[in-house]
Amino acid sequence: MSGTSVDAVDAALIAICDQSLQLKHFTTTPIPDKLKQLLLECNSEQKLSLQSFSQLHSQMGQLFAAAVAQLLRETGLEARDITAIGSHGQTIYHAPDLMMSLQIGHPAIIAKHSGITTVGDFRVDDMALGGQGAPFAPVFHQRLFSEPEQTVIAVNIGGIANISLLPADHATEAVTGWDTGPGNGLIDEACQKLFACSYDRNGDLARQGAVQTAVLDSLVQDSYFQQPAPKSSGRDYFNWPWLVEKLGNDFAQRIDAHDLLATLTELTAVSIAQQVRPALGEQTGNSVWICGGGAFNRYLLERIQAHLPACTVCSSSDAGHDPNAIEGMLFAWLAHERLHNRPVKLSAVTGAERDAVLGGIWHP
Ligand SMILES: Nc1ncnc2c1ncn2[C@@H]1O[C@H](COP(=O)(O)OP(=O)(O)O)[C@@H](O)[C@H]1O
Ligand SMILES: [Mg+2]
Repeated sequence: MSGTSVDAVDAALIAICDQSLQLKHFTTTPIPDKLKQLLLECNSEQKLSLQSFSQLHSQMGQLFAAAVAQLLRETGLEARDITAIGSHGQTIYHAPDLMMSLQIGHPAIIAKHSGITTVGDFRVDDMALGGQGAPFAPVFHQRLFSEPEQTVIAVNIGGIANISLLPADHATEAVTGWDTGPGNGLIDEACQKLFACSYDRNGDLARQGAVQTAVLDSLVQDSYFQQPAPKSSGRDYFNWPWLVEKLGNDFAQRIDAHDLLATLTELTAVSIAQQVRPALGEQTGNSVWICGGGAFNRYLLERIQAHLPACTVCSSSDAGHDPNAIEGMLFAWLAHERLHNRPVKLSAVTGAERDAVLGGIWHP
């Protein structure tokens, strides 16, 4: 798994046997800086020659295969011990209106280089049926977090944030969820441009700033936040050019850098909270589990908690699930479902006309 933060390739080894699913090992390999810059540019500029596209497609495939090799080394396992790899790929463009989402890191390269059957290209099956092709996490969050008596919320905070609404086990409603908007993506970009660091460790920089209410207001006006579900987004939308469009060319000179980080962190917190509140109505005491790298941003978690006083907001690690490993586990589980030709119950999330078998299979 490599998400829209383009921070690292995450590899999770899981053992699945019908009802039981166990994380056996997790390893993460940072993405080299130069490659990271190229991938981030793809997102914000959306221009790439076919030659560069092919080169990146191949290079990412090799990087994913190397992550698998590292996981095997660390665990002392061999290719023949692994049933399959589920590879999400690196998203460089996500366009539900075109029924297309482009992930690079070709599964053929992963399969041939690792010697392990590889399942990839999961999103287009859902999109060909009119679905958003995202988010996929809700069905997996249900396995990890749902409770017998109460609605539970899970929030994945990567570059983009998505929520899962998990009805109580006995309830008849379907699991739903959607992308709420920016997660860490804008925060990371501000850190890279204004503080020469890749992310705001624990939220310490944002904590030193003050939220600029007028700036926040002009950002939350964006029509994406009001749009009804199903909906999904990407860093090809919520990125630096989006900030320039909302705030003007010279915004980074006008707004104090710490204040800007505080405001962008508040935007993530507010846009999550304002989608969670109506889903819970009068209920109180519901758990909100935060997954993904955003779970390590303590200031962000405090701000989400401040906007959801009736809920208990915690990192998924408090429920025994490493926030970093969950998305990798999700794609391993999706590979398992694909090999059993089982449709994934996602149409209530994505808006597809039916649940589809997701992904293509590449043999070693
Ligand atoms: N200690 C930390 N403090 C604050 N933010 C963190 C911390 N660790 C990770 N992050 C954030 O999490 C991001 C990576 O999260 P991840 O779940 O991998 O997202 P994605 O799925 O988009 O790659 C980093 O880019 C950073 O913004
Ligand atoms: Mg990541």
